[in-house]
Amino acid sequence: MIEKIEAHNIIKRYNSRFTLECSLDIQRNALYAIVGPNGSGKSTLLKIISLNDRPDSGSVDYFDGDSPVPNPFNNISLRRKAALVPTRAALFKETVYDNTAYGLKLRKVAKKEMRERVIQALHVVGLSEKADSDAHELSSGEAQRLALARALALDPSALFIDEPTASLDPDNTGIIEDIISKRVKSSGKITVMVTHNLNQAKTLADLVIFMYKGKIIELSEAASFFKGPSTEIAKKFARGEIY
Ligand SMILES: Nc1ncnc2c1ncn2[C@@H]1O[C@H](COP(=O)(O)OP(=O)(O)OP(=O)(O)O)[C@@H](O)[C@H]1O
Ligand SMILES: [Mg+2]
Repeated sequence: MIEKIEAHNIIKRYNSRFTLECSLDIQRNALYAIVGPNGSGKSTLLKIISLNDRPDSGSVDYFDGDSPVPNPFNNISLRRKAALVPTRAALFKETVYDNTAYGLKLRKVAKKEMRERVIQALHVVGLSEKADSDAHELSSGEAQRLALARALALDPSALFIDEPTASLDPDNTGIIEDIISKRVKSSGKITVMVTHNLNQAKTLADLVIFMYKGKIIELSEAASFFKGPSTEIAKKFARGEIY
């Protein structure tokens, strides 16, 4: 079980205009929502703390007990405990079932267990009936749910989800929100999501991380953030004046 993640002095530069520069602690048993305007660095930060991209400098420490696991970016078994669900995950031109089983196959999970986990994950996201359909024939809402099922099947210690409901209708949004909130409540594991939907952050998140221009400007309890952010820039964002 990953107890917490500490990111220290992270710097990631893509070009002269954007630099991610932040430190962050993530505890388990709470849902973190990263919010902020377009281009503020939310996805970049998510990729780094999920060990999917290396920072130029700084460290990402995963605590399995009291001490951090050494060399996290080179540690395949640690990286397999973390799952990142990108907004538009690459789905293979295979069945929904095979797409869900993808990560389990990589991990060489035994056939019987793989089957049980896939069936359970598809049940959770409401795609059991579509198990034999071609993944490329899914609607965008179903595809997002499949991407989530693929991650849930791994039962990761740390789950990172990037804009899981971007451009979805209210029904699909509700299904996905339900899955995320149940995972946090039932598993007590690490869960971080990026969202543009402030209403969603308000209903789901325990903690809100507000980013602006590559920096974390606020990290607060969701209730206090939505009562009134501390900084002027976050207030403007909450009022919908910048996006
Ligand atoms: N692979 C990349 N190569 C070059 N620049 C990049 C790359 N990924 C991101 N950037 C730049 O870094 C900045 C932050 O991007 P990022 O995707 O992290 O923002 P975001 O907060 O997730 O935005 P959005 O809300 O639009 O998803 C942007 O200016 C973006 O153009
Ligand atoms: Mg993004």
